[in-house]
Amino acid sequence: MNPQIEYLGSYHKVEQAPKADRPEFAFIGRSNVGKSSLINRLFGRKDLAYVSKQPGKTQSINYYRVGEDYYIVDLPGYGYARQSRKQRAGWDRMVRRFLQQRSALTCVFVLLDSNLTLQSIDHEFINWLGENQIPFALIFTKSDKSKPQTVDENLQSIREGLLQDWEYLPEQFLTSSTSGDGIGTVLNYLHTLVEGTKEDEGK
Ligand code: GTP
Ligand code: MG
Repeated sequence: MNPQIEYLGSYHKVEQAPKADRPEFAFIGRSNVGKSSLINRLFGRKDLAYVSKQPGKTQSINYYRVGEDYYIVDLPGYGYARQSRKQRAGWDRMVRRFLQQRSALTCVFVLLDSNLTLQSIDHEFINWLGENQIPFALIFTKSDKSKPQTVDENLQSIREGLLQDWEYLPEQFLTSSTSGDGIGTVLNYLHTLVEGTKEDEGK
């Protein structure tokens, strides 16, 4: 059974987001990488988060609550080419402030397309997370689209690229929102983290 998920709202300012009264998990990545599709698949809903034919559709900070236990946040994608410099700067400010300020942010899931090698915009963003000591995990998306060997080679190149700057890598998951591969593993990991925050509170 999938946990009950409920849409709470979309916000254009960090201050508008709900009170940080339970653990929260953000999903972020390049525009079109599959964030909204993944959230829909994780929680077994087809229509929850808006899946777009055109990239750059998720422009706001979108909040969902799962049971009474935690929040899921669908963040707008970065690197959308058809965006003005001003829009891009706005994204940057909003998302970075969000990631730096939310005190209950337990893990940021950074989505990377398993059909591509490491993109410099992803590399820079991951480095920024590391420098800011924001906890994150990697989710490789759309594993159904390329041959397994190609996916393996891409993952290898992504890992090697990141290991040039970091001594070790965070948790990684290979997923497909189309086939459902890897989805249960991500959900289990997320729930393990939720349980961990409960234990911390109990101390
Ligand atoms: P923005 O909100 O625009 O930044 O995009 P997003 O990251 O939320 O991506 P979204 O979920 O809207 O998916 C973008 C496109 O990729 C859509 O056409 C999806 O149908 C497709 N897509 C998403 N996940 C998968 C997947 O696992 N496999 C395949 N083959 N296509 C996928
Ligand atoms: Mg989206």
